[in-house]
Amino acid sequence: MTIVVTTPTGHVGSRVVRLLVQAGVRPRVLVRDPARLDAELRGRVDARRGDLTDPGFVREATAGARTVFWVDPTPHTAEDPIGTSRRTAAPLADAARSGDVARIVFLSSVGAEKRHGVGHIDGLARIEELFDATGADVLHLRCGYFFTNLLLSLDELRQGVLTTAADPQQPMPWVDPRDIGEVVAARLLCERWQGRVVQAVHGPEDLTFTQVAGILAEALGRRVSLRTVTDDDVRATLRSAGLPPKAVEAIVGMLAGSRDLVPEQPRDMTTTTPTPLSAWAHTRLRPLLAT
Ligand SMILES: NC(=O)c1ccc[n+]([C@@H]2O[C@H](COP(=O)([O-])OP(=O)(O)OC[C@H]3O[C@@H](n4cnc5c(N)ncnc54)[C@H](OP(=O)(O)O)[C@@H]3O)[C@@H](O)[C@H]2O)c1
Repeated sequence: MTIVVTTPTGHVGSRVVRLLVQAGVRPRVLVRDPARLDAELRGRVDARRGDLTDPGFVREATAGARTVFWVDPTPHTAEDPIGTSRRTAAPLADAARSGDVARIVFLSSVGAEKRHGVGHIDGLARIEELFDATGADVLHLRCGYFFTNLLLSLDELRQGVLTTAADPQQPMPWVDPRDIGEVVAARLLCERWQGRVVQAVHGPEDLTFTQVAGILAEALGRRVSLRTVTDDDVRATLRSAGLPPKAVEAIVGMLAGSRDLVPEQPRDMTTTTPTPLSAWAHTRLRPLLAT
């Protein structure tokens, strides 16, 4: 049984690889630069060097794999994020259709259930549809908002500010990617699920941005004021940073389309993961802000 892991150096993928190795598996990892893997893991994985946007590489590197963990690597800054997400996943769908891959675990997002109107998350919906049409066993993990998104706000957090275009009073699921990795690893190792499965990964609790600012202030031991901006403010900032028009709209679309979002799957014990934002902020964020 070969398990293939994409993005093994990412927040989710790195946790998945470590757990698979601890479970006695030697995963095949698809990596752009093997030197970026944890040194202690390098001898314990079958590393295939290549880029996920190279269809030939994806077909060759997934050949004969029973199970694949697919993470869409498309950056939000891509020229055409939604089309690129779909095109990048197409070779894996081909491999599944031809029987070369039997099971896919896909890192999707809450909001993908809307199918349209959620910006770049529409790209994840297109990937779900591609994989669904293959006849393979497919699991879509619809994850909440990653704690690690806050790493993009380090500079402003140093100034005591957290900026959002979200409704500051709207709760949404916030999740530690490391906990997502645990769900992924368990699903990759379990042979019992079949067909098309959708599972949300909601983290420990739904939080508003107002609550998040309070939790961060407490965990970081510093003032954190919430600054709300409009979609047009976000547009203007992204345009002035030189992002292409479709990339700008894919980001603004995610914000706008998520504003009224109620995740399709209600929170229950199968969707709830343990790590609270306060603990993550204390152990991961606080040291970064101290430098
Ligand atoms: N952020 C959220 O709130 C959220 C919510 C739901 C779902 N998601 C999904 O989560 C995924 C991101 O997961 P993450 O946070 O674990 O990733 P991450 O930490 O941002 O890391 C990105 C990974 O992608 C790899 N990568 C980028 N471009 C690549 C390419 N062209 N070929 C091969 N590898 C490439 C990087 O490898 P290198 O080491 O080579 O750079 C790295 O391993 C996205 O697909 C996103 O849609 C995110």
